[in-house]
Amino acid sequence: MTGEPDQDGPGRSERPREVKHSAGFYANPRPPVSLYGRQRRPDRFMLGLGKLAARIEPLTSRWRPGHPPPAPAGDLPVRVARVERPAPDVAAMTLLPAHPGVVLPYWQPGHHVDVVLSGGVVRQYSLCGDPADRSGYRIAVRRIEGGVGSGLVHELAEGDVIGLRGPRNAFPFARAQRYLFVAGGIGITPILPMVRAAHAADREFTFVYTGRDRKSMPFRGELPGVGGEGVFVRPDDEYGPPDVEELLADLTPETAVYVCGPAPLINALRTRVPAENPFFSERFSPPPIVDGRRFEVQLGRSGPVLTVPEDESALDVVRRVRPETAYSCRQGFCGTCRVGLLSGEPDNRDRPTGGSPRGAEFALCVSRAEEDERLVLDL
Ligand code: FES
Repeated sequence: MTGEPDQDGPGRSERPREVKHSAGFYANPRPPVSLYGRQRRPDRFMLGLGKLAARIEPLTSRWRPGHPPPAPAGDLPVRVARVERPAPDVAAMTLLPAHPGVVLPYWQPGHHVDVVLSGGVVRQYSLCGDPADRSGYRIAVRRIEGGVGSGLVHELAEGDVIGLRGPRNAFPFARAQRYLFVAGGIGITPILPMVRAAHAADREFTFVYTGRDRKSMPFRGELPGVGGEGVFVRPDDEYGPPDVEELLADLTPETAVYVCGPAPLINALRTRVPAENPFFSERFSPPPIVDGRRFEVQLGRSGPVLTVPEDESALDVVRRVRPETAYSCRQGFCGTCRVGLLSGEPDNRDRPTGGSPRGAEFALCVSRAEEDERLVLDL
């Protein structure tokens, strides 16, 4: 996940894997099993220290007007420990637990976290550090012109405390004999840990990194095997726009394809990759509406009735009259826009990757209904 609501979730061959952690996990992490398989006893000194820190932290928080308030209860509080600029409009942040003694939850390449920002704004960003390092997470966010979430992230300073939810996985990194990775610009964030993992496991892979120009492409210096066979840094101003035939030239039947980048790049690859190749993608914008029909939503049993046209989402229509309606991913996986469904037959198109099951709810951002169906929403 890479900026404003920006992700396309799992490809056509796998459901996302849900990763659950209770709030208690963060406050009272269970120590890992020892090398010899024995369960370790919790370190009482560290637990005591953690409890003391939890009491003191609210008194010492560096909250300043204009900066995020302390993380709400239930979210994992993390401190911005380091801010770097790997490209002119990209902020890369190292996030450490706000309380000592807390071990961050396990993650794998492809996982993202929900970042809780000022005003309760929630955005998803891919983890792009080292999964083996549980002492901290790293995210990188490109500033989008007019983007609320990316703007708030770029205002964060070292020492600020924010809340995290997750990690969750909507872009599963599956075992394959061979990989083709394609990243466009900030789409490098979920792909980078995958390339590193494939490189470390001695898997055969091809990695193509595209972008406007070299200076706009973050983490070029961190690519494993760069300069060697199979890793291509391919800025448009030197090579022209990426050519799909060229990208797929060496595709073998056992190759899994992973792509994260702009929608046209993903769509072009999706339509050309043969059905037998596992295909996984993550995008920067809401998916296009496929097979949309006009339907109605009523806001409460006696509220106004709104028409949702074929080519618009219910979220866009509802937000015109209720601009405060919350949303986050706009791609059907975070659950933020789900509202109660009082009556009507929905065509549910969301695919929750965590949190509560859908139940009698309707995801405004992607779900729809049959022609002229009226859904009564608990709004
Ligand atoms: S905004 Fe995330 S599911 Fe709708």
